[in-house]
Amino acid sequence: MAQEDPSWKLFFEENPKPTHFDENVKLIQDVCQQAAVKKNRVALITSGGTTVPLEQNTVRFIDNFSAGTRGSASAEYFLEAGYLVIFLHRSKSLEPYSRHLIGRNIFDMIEALPDHITVGDKYKIELGVLAEKYQHYKCNLLMISFNTLADYLWLLQATAQKMQILGPLALLYLAAAVSDFYIPTSQMPCHKIQSSGGPLSLSLELVPKMLAPLVTLWAPNAFVVSFKLETNETLLETKSKESLLKYHHNVVIGNLLSSRKVYVMLVDSTSSNAEEIRLSASDLENGVEIESKIVDNLKIRHEQYYANHKTG
Ligand code: PMT
Repeated sequence: MAQEDPSWKLFFEENPKPTHFDENVKLIQDVCQQAAVKKNRVALITSGGTTVPLEQNTVRFIDNFSAGTRGSASAEYFLEAGYLVIFLHRSKSLEPYSRHLIGRNIFDMIEALPDHITVGDKYKIELGVLAEKYQHYKCNLLMISFNTLADYLWLLQATAQKMQILGPLALLYLAAAVSDFYIPTSQMPCHKIQSSGGPLSLSLELVPKMLAPLVTLWAPNAFVVSFKLETNETLLETKSKESLLKYHHNVVIGNLLSSRKVYVMLVDSTSSNAEEIRLSASDLENGVEIESKIVDNLKIRHEQYYANHKTG
């Protein structure tokens, strides 16, 4: 008897590709091919939350809390560490470099005179530093955006597959906040749900865990780092270890919703003890971001992984 397709395959069969998919995949392929020739390390960073539409002509959707802080900050540190970065992010979530300006009004920063525009004295240094960094690194940064869960998973699959050509030079850093529940297209109403129908009951299906095919089929030689998000501190270490045992990838970074900006734990298969990264009071005073320490740590781990692959 023929074997049934695994649930992750069925997901792709029943959810159409996003718009501009082929153009985006071509851009990703070009980056990977050029990096493979030059033996550059490439980091795929996923960032921000995925939406789950309730209607095919979507008026309403389910979303989550993620602003993309982890992903956008990490992208800057991976660029500074010498990686080419593919930044797969939720549209309109935080982006590297421009994230520093969020919440401020650009018109407060410029002085418009009759014949020219200039940056206000107060902002010259800050904007100058950011602009210089952005201009320096932008040729090493490919930004691709998504909105829905299905868009994200299509692009994740395609990017991981294109990164296969890089072997152990590829690092996947899965920081996006990915929905675990969704409504399959076939069960979604075509048009706006009418309130005249009374209170709304929703039934959501489980999203297949994509880490399984990602690690075994899409990018089997890449260095894969996933995040485990919990709100209950007592579950964090166990859940992070379970994830590593289940998917056999390289590192799971456990974080709690409430403390994610100051504390993470890293779990790998070489040690039964989790490694902790915690910002100190002086780190906080000096504006150190936890992502700089995470990326420093991963850079070393990835170097060792690459060296073992070459000799192994
Ligand atoms: O953006 P910020 O506000 O800075 O927040 C950062 C963050 C808390 C979102 C980030 O640090 C984080 O924890 N991201 C992962 C959130 C998440 O999806 O956790 P999870 O425990 O539900 O999933 C664990 C892993 O399984 C994730 O790496 C995810 O990519 C993967 N997954 C999830 C669902 C799914 N269907 N397939 C998957 O493979």
